[in-house]
Amino acid sequence: MARVALVTGGTRGIGHAISVALRDAGFNVAANYGGNDEAANKFKEETGIPVFKFDVGNFDAVSEGIKKVESEVGPVDVMVNNAGITRDTTLHKMKPEQWTEVIETNLNSAFYCTRCVIEGMRSRGFGRIVTISSINGQKGQIGQSNYAAAKAGVIGLMKSVAQENAGKGITANVVAPGYIGTDMVRAVPENVLQKIVGQIPVGRLGEPEEIARCVAFLASDDSGFITGSTLNANGGQYMA
Ligand code: CAA
Repeated sequence: MARVALVTGGTRGIGHAISVALRDAGFNVAANYGGNDEAANKFKEETGIPVFKFDVGNFDAVSEGIKKVESEVGPVDVMVNNAGITRDTTLHKMKPEQWTEVIETNLNSAFYCTRCVIEGMRSRGFGRIVTISSINGQKGQIGQSNYAAAKAGVIGLMKSVAQENAGKGITANVVAPGYIGTDMVRAVPENVLQKIVGQIPVGRLGEPEEIARCVAFLASDDSGFITGSTLNANGGQYMA
């Protein structure tokens, strides 16, 4: 029986590439999405991967959503916490809701999703949890105090989950992408983006598939000795 992988924010951007890479690696993939029905339907048609709409920033919605995934696709063996948003602005202009929205979607979500699958993984003696952080959670970033706090938070979360569950066949790891050519990065003002690309030794933005390959490795049976680690994929922009 193929293992089941759930990818949050799995129909667009990096998540889209992760869903496809895991499908191609032989997983039964379920892709979560939050709001963009049009993109999700197109993704489903193109890839054949079933989609599940629920808000990852709300515990009750996650709990219901994962129950639905488990009854329709099967118990989740691989949890990929990928969903994320930005509400970029400098801290002195940030409204409390811009802080809260990012913490809910980018940090609380990783707790909610992991919490809802961990007992099943523990009882079955196998699990792979991969959470997408960011270079900006490691080094901080102008305009991203909310995002950087959330993305740093998931690293501590995964290290703790790794220690708690290492004896149960479960690994918990982080992938920390740099600037990848997605809608999220293309929303950065052009002059700022030019400046950022100038700071990347490899000299270009990353491709979503380059992140997806990291996730596919950490999701595989072959990666069982790697837990609590952070895999940087940032073109050399920050060597943490
Ligand atoms: N790197 C380098 N310099 C930056 C910068 C960055 N990421 N962000 C802002 N700056 C610089 C600007 O170039 C500008 O410099 P000058 O005064 O020399 O021109 C200065 O900071 C102020 O910036 P703005 O004029 O744009 O100020 P603003 O108040 O209009 O907007 C801002 C501020 C909202 C932070 C805007 O600059 C911005 O959106 N910056 C990009 C923030 C960013 O990097 N977001 C990442 C999104 S992608 C992502 O999150 C994925 C991931 O994990 C990497």
